[in-house]
Amino acid sequence: MKITKHIFLFVAIVLFASFSKQDAGIQLQNLRCEMLVNPEGIDVVKPRLSWEITASQRNVQQVAYQILVASTPEKLAANEGDLWNSGKVLSDESIHVKYAGIVLKSKKRCFWKIKTWTNKGESAWSETAFWSVGLLNYVDWKGRWIGLDRSFEWDNESQFARLSARYFRKEFVAKKSIKQATVYIVGLGLYELYLNGQKVGDQVLAPVPTDYTKGIKYNTFDVTKLLQADKNVIGTVLGNGRFYTMRQDYKPYKIKTFGYPKMLLNLDIEYTDGTKETISTDESWKVTADGPIRTNNEYDGEEYDATKEMPNWNKVGFEDKNWLKVQLVQEAGGMFEAQMTENMKVMETIKPVSIKSLNANTYILDMGQNMAGWLRMRVTGKKGDKIGLRFAETLQSNGELFVRNLRDAKVTDVYTLKGEGQETWEPSFVYHGFRYVEITGFPTVPTVENFDGRVVYDDMATIGDFETSNKTINQIYKNAYWGIRSNYKGMPVDCPQRNERQPWLGDRTTGAYGESFIFDNVRLYSKWLNDIEQAQKPDGSIPDVAPAFWRYYGDNVTWPGTYITVADMLYHQFGDQETIKSHYPSMKKWIDYMQDKYLVNGLITKDKYGDWCVPPESLELIHAKDPARQTDGELLASATYVRLLDVMQNFARLLHKSDDIKAFEQSKQAIIKAFNKKFLDSKKGQYSNGTVTANLLPLMYNMIPANEKAKVWKSIVEKVLVENKGHISTGVIGTQWLMRGLSENGRPDIAYTIASNRDYPSWGYMAENGATTIWELWNGDKANPEMNSGNHVMLLGDLIIWYYENVAGIKSSKESVAFKKIVMKPEMIAGLTSAKALYHCMYGIIKSDWKKEGNKFQWNISIPVNTKSLVYLPTNSLNQVTESGKAIASVEGVKFVKAVGNKLILEVSSGNYSFNVN
Ligand code: BGC
Repeated sequence: MKITKHIFLFVAIVLFASFSKQDAGIQLQNLRCEMLVNPEGIDVVKPRLSWEITASQRNVQQVAYQILVASTPEKLAANEGDLWNSGKVLSDESIHVKYAGIVLKSKKRCFWKIKTWTNKGESAWSETAFWSVGLLNYVDWKGRWIGLDRSFEWDNESQFARLSARYFRKEFVAKKSIKQATVYIVGLGLYELYLNGQKVGDQVLAPVPTDYTKGIKYNTFDVTKLLQADKNVIGTVLGNGRFYTMRQDYKPYKIKTFGYPKMLLNLDIEYTDGTKETISTDESWKVTADGPIRTNNEYDGEEYDATKEMPNWNKVGFEDKNWLKVQLVQEAGGMFEAQMTENMKVMETIKPVSIKSLNANTYILDMGQNMAGWLRMRVTGKKGDKIGLRFAETLQSNGELFVRNLRDAKVTDVYTLKGEGQETWEPSFVYHGFRYVEITGFPTVPTVENFDGRVVYDDMATIGDFETSNKTINQIYKNAYWGIRSNYKGMPVDCPQRNERQPWLGDRTTGAYGESFIFDNVRLYSKWLNDIEQAQKPDGSIPDVAPAFWRYYGDNVTWPGTYITVADMLYHQFGDQETIKSHYPSMKKWIDYMQDKYLVNGLITKDKYGDWCVPPESLELIHAKDPARQTDGELLASATYVRLLDVMQNFARLLHKSDDIKAFEQSKQAIIKAFNKKFLDSKKGQYSNGTVTANLLPLMYNMIPANEKAKVWKSIVEKVLVENKGHISTGVIGTQWLMRGLSENGRPDIAYTIASNRDYPSWGYMAENGATTIWELWNGDKANPEMNSGNHVMLLGDLIIWYYENVAGIKSSKESVAFKKIVMKPEMIAGLTSAKALYHCMYGIIKSDWKKEGNKFQWNISIPVNTKSLVYLPTNSLNQVTESGKAIASVEGVKFVKAVGNKLILEVSSGNYSFNVN
């Protein structure tokens, strides 16, 4: 798999610094403000700045930095930091350094650069990077919300909602020569924006979804180059997204609806003479809903009638007298928030592998890969020809689409031709989860040349890569990669295909952590924590789905607890402490609420989902009925709650809240006591009914009395090896700790067996049976289609973490965060002869690439500048180790620490190293 490092590359190219006289090839790159690559219109007044240092030498550590922030590029070029000159700061910090200059106001444009000093010399000034401040205050917005609070005769507001897209236009005159023009847009549910006929930005399905009554995201664009002297036109198209929701007049108690699409837009123009003007939405705008997009519904699909196109509608001079006057409508309700996470984009375009005829009028297209996005189509035909594209994940044995697992989602795009030569089309406001597409009504015999698969998800870099000598593991990794990218949709959703696509908290409790090794998901998940906080009820209750488009306030522990574990992940993997600070009160509120309401006889009693989706006793079942496979809900809730108290206690330490530290400790100890009293069966050496999950959670959460630990561990091993013959028996909860639990307690070989199985139940079984993503159920090929998605990531548990941390051996040390200290410690597992991983952390690229041959072990590693690592080699004798052919004592950047058991520990500073153990 290729690393799509477009984000990093972009900055790297722009920011390549030239060498200074004293340098050691020290360069600065990937300057990031709030970790954003393109921070246009942020609403943080003290943004955090991060940078990466690269060097041609080993053992390079930062000792000081200087940051300059200026209000113009000219001032910055003259080294004048009129907004902030940090001066030379003696510090090794190179991530999340807070801006501490002049107070920034709305619309401020900031140009910045940095210089660093290291133990090996100083860098030159970096190239210039940039951020701008958005509209910080409500009153900064001019104009009115516009829309049309009605539907039309061609729409249908029933359960299967059909509402055509709304097209808006506004002509205006730019009176003088333009210096700078910036658009701020809130377009709900989804918008497309044009200036003088040109599309602004490459985002799709923007903005990211929120509970629009709580928070609404605006996007900011520099459009200076798109404006022209004299007459101009702004054009926008509004789609429904999650605003005018997919199901109307249906289960109002469950589905939150928001009304008809609406928008607010400000175009700020600064003329060269210093005067300013704002063009904003008001009653002078015109609108029509009678354009080509006849309906757009995330579940049911988009219909586009090219005969209804309105050529040049978004350019100057279009006759809009038949268009309607807009309505001034009520505002959406939520707070304005600058969107601090990327929009979705077409991230990859792939070709179908085949198209086969099913009957005279019907063809089946196969992408060869389950994916989320849509098809782009090139077609030539007569005016009025209608093509249907229906999407599905699998086929029936007769070759037709299998759609029963999509429930009532119609997932069908329809395109009507205008008949003017070759027509190219792709939808604007829907996406589908699919591998196969049924094509009907195509005017000629369709070939793969007529179609492209457009892979759509949040515009984030792939920052990890992983490969081993085991083909099954590699296939599962690839399936996970496709599954995760399929389910990033401005929020992490459960699945991209059926009539659900909801951001269920429980699916990501640990998954978010694993995913962070593959994708730069820090902004997506910090946005999600805001969604969760906004969904919290005043009493403290947190729902199972956030944004709470589906209203599930069930007050269990395992799903809502994700609020806390994801904050922990952001800190551990990316060093993001701000998130913990800002969410701590809400997290604590929930912790207290659960304890006040559900603590009975020392235990947390409320659970809802159990160990969701354990492998059932019969392949046709969705959930096991056999009590021996299920884990007691009170056990799950109480153990999980103890773990969350533990995480909260760490947060409290970080924030110096001594009373909370004590209180959390007391609660923890009291629950552990009641837990052991109720669930620990000392005779049998097991908890409750002895499922792997029942024993594993107390083991991993340090809840087992010291003298009982060995027995419980033995029960786990026996259960896996004897009863389950080396197979998985856990569901969504237990699987979050299974691989690490086995490895870290000394049996990585069992974890490896589970990871490489190809028979039921296993991830390999999915791959063996044709999966190209991860299934919702272990028995996804046989179970009831009612709840059986082929593209769910929740069953990954801690597998991806295990791949990177235990197999490749790349882990952020507990003594620091964000890989400032790295533990390089691959497990040596019989049968696995090589593993290779790359991980682009905040400091730079970490690599681990090892091979075993007989008694020889060869290991190439890369450690980023300004980090250090502890490297564990599989030997106890220093004499057996060389680095690039040299004895360790003479190697720069490497220090012997100690030998522990059969491992040798070295401290290794930055650079590339090649170790051999003979
Ligand atoms: C979803 C899951 C979710 C679960 C909880 C399912 O329908 O697809 O991913 O976590 O419900 O009940």
